[in-house]
Amino acid sequence: MEKILSHISFLSRPPIKIKLSTMHIPVLLNESIEGLNIKEGGIYVDCTTNRGGHSIKIAKALKKGGTLICIDLDKVALKEAEQEISKIKNVPTLHFIHSNFRHLPSILKELGVGHVDGILADLGLSSQELDESKRGFSFRFDEPLLMTYDSNPSEDVTTAFDIVNYWSESTIADILYGFSDETYRGRIASAIVKARIEKPIKTTFELVDIIAGAVPTIYRHKKTHFATKTFQALRMAANDELGSINDLIASLPNILASNGRACIITFHSTEDRIVKQGLRANNDTLKAITKKAIIPQEKEINENPRARSAQLRIVERI
Ligand SMILES: C[S@@+](CC[C@H](N)C(=O)[O-])C[C@H]1O[C@@H](n2cnc3c(N)ncnc32)[C@H](O)[C@@H]1O
Repeated sequence: MEKILSHISFLSRPPIKIKLSTMHIPVLLNESIEGLNIKEGGIYVDCTTNRGGHSIKIAKALKKGGTLICIDLDKVALKEAEQEISKIKNVPTLHFIHSNFRHLPSILKELGVGHVDGILADLGLSSQELDESKRGFSFRFDEPLLMTYDSNPSEDVTTAFDIVNYWSESTIADILYGFSDETYRGRIASAIVKARIEKPIKTTFELVDIIAGAVPTIYRHKKTHFATKTFQALRMAANDELGSINDLIASLPNILASNGRACIITFHSTEDRIVKQGLRANNDTLKAITKKAIIPQEKEINENPRARSAQLRIVERI
């Protein structure tokens, strides 16, 4: 009964205050482009191209003699980026690569590129992926539990469905702790495992119901939606987000040309901690350009609430 009531109260409340948008607004755009210190004619990589919000600006600065390598796991978004960027006057040489950015060393090898002058990674997911991808990233829409950045995932790709239906209770609790510091990780993990004995958990709303039934009433009425942390942790686990970031950072010293820059934008503390630690571990070869992470100005946050938790770290190859 409590489970049903909690779901009704969830449905009867305005779901979320963030404005729905069909457009992804690039975050810390000027700061990251400035941070890349773009050399006309250089070679640059956008590891998280999406529909090209940052790439378009990089391409314009690079001009004809330059090279821009655009990577993304989301094939649909990458195709749209290709269409937009190709329209630019004096467009640099372009490569669109549907891949995980953790494979950047082999991508460059295949393209015959030794070193690059700049790398951008604007981590996480885009507004369209959240709102329109139908891959189950948001607890606001009833969708299949996929949560893969890959728009066309192969059979062997781990999905949120695999995690909630096949991973052990303790591993689910661990990811809820490690990836999103969820206070009620034990209760949620236990409720997930109980529910899946009855039938597989297939959709976002089924999962929201289970979480609603597991957490205390007071938690269900907090400003931040009670499913936020579970969804974040599942997304991070399904995509091995921290593993991908670690691999990318570890490869920077070998990939960046002398004085080449890397700009990394994160959206929550776990992600930023991994980036900060990873960059610090390489401080014999990577010098931080600013002591503290750069955060958006108030004007940007007012115009784009998604920017509110963004942090930009910039390093230069010594
Ligand atoms: C925040 S969006 C980037 C938005 C883009 N900078 C813009 O302003 O238009 C992040 C993008 O990174 C992609 N992505 C996330 N993790 C990835 C990974 N490990 N490898 C490749 N792409 C990834 C997502 O599919 C998404 O398109």
